[in-house]
Amino acid sequence: MGKTIIVSNRLPLQINITENNELEVTPSVGGLATGLKSFHQEGDSIWIGWTGIAEEDIPDALEKEVIQEVKNQDCIPVSLTSDEIEKFYYGFSNRTIWPLFHYFMEFTEFDPDHWEAYKAVNKKYAEAVIERLDDDDVVWVHDYQLLLLPEYIRRKKPNVTIGFFNHIPFPSSEVFRTLPWREEVLRGMLGADLIGFHTYDYERHFLRSVNRILRYDINFNSVNIGNRIVRSDSFPMGIDYKKFHKAAKEHKDQPRSENSDIQKKLDYHKYVTRNTKLILSIDRLDYTKGIANRIRAFGYFLEKYPEYQEKVRLIMLAVPSRTNVPQYQLLKKEIDELVGRINGKFATINWTPIWYFYRAMPFENLIDLYASSDVALITPTRDGMNLVAKEYIATRTDQTGVLILSEMAGAAHELNEALIINPNNFEQIVDTMKMALEMPEEEQIRRNKILQKRLKRYNVERWASDFMKSLRETKDSRKAFK
Ligand code: G6P
Repeated sequence: MGKTIIVSNRLPLQINITENNELEVTPSVGGLATGLKSFHQEGDSIWIGWTGIAEEDIPDALEKEVIQEVKNQDCIPVSLTSDEIEKFYYGFSNRTIWPLFHYFMEFTEFDPDHWEAYKAVNKKYAEAVIERLDDDDVVWVHDYQLLLLPEYIRRKKPNVTIGFFNHIPFPSSEVFRTLPWREEVLRGMLGADLIGFHTYDYERHFLRSVNRILRYDINFNSVNIGNRIVRSDSFPMGIDYKKFHKAAKEHKDQPRSENSDIQKKLDYHKYVTRNTKLILSIDRLDYTKGIANRIRAFGYFLEKYPEYQEKVRLIMLAVPSRTNVPQYQLLKKEIDELVGRINGKFATINWTPIWYFYRAMPFENLIDLYASSDVALITPTRDGMNLVAKEYIATRTDQTGVLILSEMAGAAHELNEALIINPNNFEQIVDTMKMALEMPEEEQIRRNKILQKRLKRYNVERWASDFMKSLRETKDSRKAFK
């Protein structure tokens, strides 16, 4: 058994060059990077991906330092020029695939220039992989930015074992078939031996698209392509449960030393407005997350149930993301206005209904937020999985707390004991918020006990090992088939 080569668009670390020309290394945000990090740290693997900075922005004098810094974490950088970032990352990945796969057809652009860049950058990643690939290695490719990579690697190395995991939804074939380059994209994915999705629905959508568009026969969950069999299956991604649970326990036992904005707010909440309940909202600032509607729903809640004014507060963290894409800029504006409008309408001398933070947050502060909130309100209109929902449950060390979760998140398929809502149904959301705030403690504990047990068992380690085991089995049955 050789090593595992993990490939994703972004490395789990982000490089920045400060104004004084110094290197700054921070962890990447987003489900994929945070989730896979534990798997990477524990096994014999290297991780190939982008550092988050344009090639031109790295001063020559710092180039070696960047490579060393990345290497220290068993990572290998793929460098992207600003033109590639514009057309491949902001362009085809985030203005075509991302909106299309999340059913935002009105935001989807079909730009041939972006498509060319997408192909070229996928080839660049393929070269970076092939350069380091030994025959007995396993390659594990991740997510929608690299849909063509499995095929590009297979062309050069026909016998290598390749797994692909899609971290976002795969849309219905009716939506997918609108893509002008649909055949190439499917063929790209089918270069893998095993294709993983978070849910059974995404897997069925994919297989249906393969059947309708490429006319390949589907046999249960396998696709026969000449002498190759490609399997697809669902593997719902878990979290590093122990890490979150342990951090929350320590947070409870030890007074915190740092005095950040958010901690000051949380202390104020704890000691001054003791009877106010806290509803938590955490996401990357993305239109798929349903943030604007969530704020509207909170405003409507305060109107419909005025007895809750001054008794509840929404604490909202939106992490900046893809800020060059116009829809994200517009959404930021919309959210700023909505928060202002609701705070302006309802605030009193002692109470601001929404505390809003637009920034990335260190891990300790996240734990603080999770651990201090009575309710987590997670209402995406579409979401591949949503790990925040799982993290919230893992940090509830006394097993109190209520999770309200959109049925459009992949996580809703597993977290049946949460309060599941349709994010487009306002009445249902506000009534569920009331239900959550009034849920007896024994009932909260009853639900969280089951949820915690499940999340503890099906953690990120188990997810990765299930995928790897299945990949090896697929490969073995392929040999037998030959
Ligand atoms: C989602 C995607 C990841 C992506 C992350 C952050 O979780 O599935 O592939 O890395 O968002 O987005 P960004 O564009 O900053 O990489």
